[in-house]
Amino acid sequence: MNINDFLKLAEERYSIRRYANKEVPREVLMSVLESARIAPSAVNFQPWKFYIASGEKAKKMVCESYNRDWIATAPLYIIACGDHSVAWHRSLDNKDHTDIDIAIAVEHICLSAAAAGLGTCWVCNFDAEMLKRDMQLPENLEPIAIIPIGYPEGDGGVRPKKRKTIEEIVQWLED
Ligand SMILES: Cc1cc2nc3c(=O)[nH]c(=O)nc-3n(C[C@H](O)[C@H](O)[C@H](O)COP(=O)(O)O)c2cc1C
Repeated sequence: MNINDFLKLAEERYSIRRYANKEVPREVLMSVLESARIAPSAVNFQPWKFYIASGEKAKKMVCESYNRDWIATAPLYIIACGDHSVAWHRSLDNKDHTDIDIAIAVEHICLSAAAAGLGTCWVCNFDAEMLKRDMQLPENLEPIAIIPIGYPEGDGGVRPKKRKTIEEIVQWLED
């Protein structure tokens, strides 16, 4: 893969909010999860656990925590959880790096899924307290993101990419 291949992949990763009624093969899902497993994390502490909601009861629990009809079209969900007691806290100011580590792993999931022709969508606007309770997660784990994953139905309901320009977001410090 060269940089143009990577840029193409990054451009082709969209938030998919409409999924086809088609199963995700187990081996493809395992490859996607492998991309999360090898993600970098602060001090390599790997403060994460990924739950796969594939059964009807588990999927219903996820849908109840995020009150949008579209999410129910996905065949399964990955619930990315962070462990604040494992994550690195910067010694100078005790900054907790859990969210950063989880974000990297989740984006690995989204990009590798896109490479496999799968759609995903980051979902953080869910009721984390409710999902943690319903999943009976241990006290140390926080559900940080839900990632519905599946094959897009049609165009998957994608919206055109709207991004700031390079000039708006990059500032060179040359002095
Ligand atoms: C941290 C994070 C949280 C997000 N939470 C939600 C969410 O709860 N619901 C949703 O529909 N989209 C959510 N999104 C998707 C964003 O709206 C989407 O990535 C953004 O609009 C850019 O569109 P694109 O992903 O198609 O390029 C989230 C994205 C990120 C990175």
